[in-house]
Amino acid sequence: MYEEKINYPEITEFLNNNLSPLIGDAAVLEKELRENEHLPIVRPSAARFLQFLCLLIKPRKILEIGTCVGFSAILMKNACPNAEITTIDRYDYMINRAKENFARFDKEGKITLLEGQAAEILPTLKEKYDFIFLDAAKGQYPAFLPYLLERLSDNGVLLVDDVLFDGLVAESSRSSRRDMTIVKRLRSFISEITNNEELYSALTPIGDGMILVQKRGENKWH
Ligand SMILES: C[S@@+](CC[C@H](N)C(=O)[O-])C[C@H]1O[C@@H](n2cnc3c(N)ncnc32)[C@H](O)[C@@H]1O
Repeated sequence: MYEEKINYPEITEFLNNNLSPLIGDAAVLEKELRENEHLPIVRPSAARFLQFLCLLIKPRKILEIGTCVGFSAILMKNACPNAEITTIDRYDYMINRAKENFARFDKEGKITLLEGQAAEILPTLKEKYDFIFLDAAKGQYPAFLPYLLERLSDNGVLLVDDVLFDGLVAESSRSSRRDMTIVKRLRSFISEITNNEELYSALTPIGDGMILVQKRGENKWH
């Protein structure tokens, strides 16, 4: 299990001892990955939040930035069997592992893996997505934001992981110089979202800190 630095250890322990089951093959893959490897996959409680959001929103088109070995993509596919999922990663090792996992757990071919730098791929995307999960390259979040908002459909939801960056975003005295650059960018990213009157958002301490974002303009609750 990951040592989470966002919540008190006893809260994290309680959350991790009270995890709801993941749907279908995602449970099998989670067990394999968490027991045998130390990969940067979405944290246990955040995985349940992601699954719940997918069940609630029922997106038909999903975009993910940060495939890793495909765990979160497979989780989203199981929660939304009718969705088409596009996921982006730049790292050959992760890409090859993700392809193996998609061959095992995505026989229906619902997941499309785009290989390369998100900064280069995002401007080329033409479709709209009702759910976007951003989970890669924290230092580039501010640069990605305009492209992600452009690709988000009316009433669509953007979920961003790692926005509290092990708590350093709130308390940065233990940051290295490199981390401080990321911390400053994440603070600016959060502030850009929360101060944008065109957006609804909710900043949470789930996982490594997650923020939920929705465009106001076409919101059905208006
Ligand atoms: C935190 S992991 C994603 C975990 C995955 N969402 C999961 O929970 O199963 C981040 C991934 O993003 C990829 N990545 C980081 N920066 C990227 C970039 N600029 N463009 C594309 N992929 C990137 C890394 O190679 C890594 O596999």
